[in-house]
Amino acid sequence: MGSIERPSLQRIERTEVDKIIQAIIQDGGVIIKNFASREAVERVNADTRPYLDNDKPWKGDLFPPETRRCTRLTARSKTYRDEWLVDPLVDRILSVFVDKTTHNYYGETKHVYTSHAIVDTAVTLEIGPGGKAQRLHRDDKNHHVTHLDQTETGYQVGSDVSLAFLVPGIDTTYENGATLAIPGSHLWDSDRVPKVEEAGYAEMNVGDSLCFLGGLYHAGGHNLTQNQKRPMHGLFFCRGYLRTEENAYLAYSTEEVLSWTYKVQARMGYTVSSPNIGFVDFMQPYKYLAGDYDPDKPGDVDESQEPGKTS
Ligand SMILES: [Fe+2]
Repeated sequence: MGSIERPSLQRIERTEVDKIIQAIIQDGGVIIKNFASREAVERVNADTRPYLDNDKPWKGDLFPPETRRCTRLTARSKTYRDEWLVDPLVDRILSVFVDKTTHNYYGETKHVYTSHAIVDTAVTLEIGPGGKAQRLHRDDKNHHVTHLDQTETGYQVGSDVSLAFLVPGIDTTYENGATLAIPGSHLWDSDRVPKVEEAGYAEMNVGDSLCFLGGLYHAGGHNLTQNQKRPMHGLFFCRGYLRTEENAYLAYSTEEVLSWTYKVQARMGYTVSSPNIGFVDFMQPYKYLAGDYDPDKPGDVDESQEPGKTS
């Protein structure tokens, strides 16, 4: 089955900013045409290639074993850092959907505060030949968002706490791993079950980007090809306040953290919050600090993600 029979997201030129925003409100996501130049994509491809080729097969359920990952993109790719992360279009979309402004009274004075979006994770995910599709999921599972049904009322801007841009390193097709997405699923309540038949394939050309809310059901597509590696560069953002008040990770030395009991390490946030918040290179941070991991066996940090487990 090709993408034509499936519900699909709109494709809108990056210059049509208001239409892009309306498409996200309506469908939960949009394909932005000409988000980046071909040259920029090729630079990020080159920046990430050594890390992808060096990565080991995944042993877990988060990704198929044919997946390769390059984390830490902000450091590893200047183009990603200095062009994409700070793209004015990214700023604009984040300001509508992720930045949060509230007010309260400090004594009798009204104060207005805006918390700006920050990078949730900066990672390239590549699916190799034979890789199976991910299960449909909402990325905001990590932030424990409870979704109310908005199918009747329409989307209330501000309902989501995260948003992502996916930038493919090659033209993506049904065959080679185009991302699955269910248009409109950002409006569903938390109990509605996503069906693969409801999803379309977000086929893209190099330079396009799939921009979608954390509440949109989507999945990395299968790779049916014999020889095509499909890298996808990700810019994942969340609300700026979704972190601790005190930045313990900069305040305490590795030696200090390793001298603590596991219970203290966990209480201080050196463990992953289920399912995936707080990892380092997809590892538990307390194990990372202790060097207590096998780099040849990357796998899920949270067993609750295995099929059939619901916690
Ligand atoms: Fe995802």
